[in-house]
Amino acid sequence: MKREEFLKKSCPIMVLSILATAEMMISCQDSITEEPISKEESEYLTRLKDIGTKGYLQEQANVYINMKHDTYYPLSTVNNFVNDQINGILILRKDASTILAFDNCCPHLGSRDQWSYKSSKFTCANHGNSFGINTGQIANCNSNTNFGNLKAYKTTLYKDLLTINFS
Ligand code: FES
Repeated sequence: MKREEFLKKSCPIMVLSILATAEMMISCQDSITEEPISKEESEYLTRLKDIGTKGYLQEQANVYINMKHDTYYPLSTVNNFVNDQINGILILRKDASTILAFDNCCPHLGSRDQWSYKSSKFTCANHGNSFGINTGQIANCNSNTNFGNLKAYKTTLYKDLLTINFS
């Protein structure tokens, strides 16, 4: 077959093939176009980025915590707690979907580093006083009190980002 003849027969097929490939590429591109993300999701991604390797971020009246960070990883198990002494909070995994946060200042004489947790009560080993995790009858930090509930803070969990609000 001469060159001219070959081109006459082959060109239309090649052009059609190129057009079909281009169409497929456009279709694929359309299908991977990302959906716009929600405001909540956008804030979540920004916070995680800002938290970085430290595991937490203090900002105004909030502390943001990456629950996947090594420091907070024990909170993936129900009834485990973390005494976060940098932020002054006891963080408790109450159940599969609930995380609670409390002032880690003992209402008796203010110790912050001797807490244990059992049967819905935190016990301070300094003088052996126990405090509840319920609402009402709040025992304030270092108030020479030996009963009542620890001061709680509002918590919000979105994916693996915990927000604790001190206001
Ligand atoms: S300081 Fe905690 S029990 Fe006394």
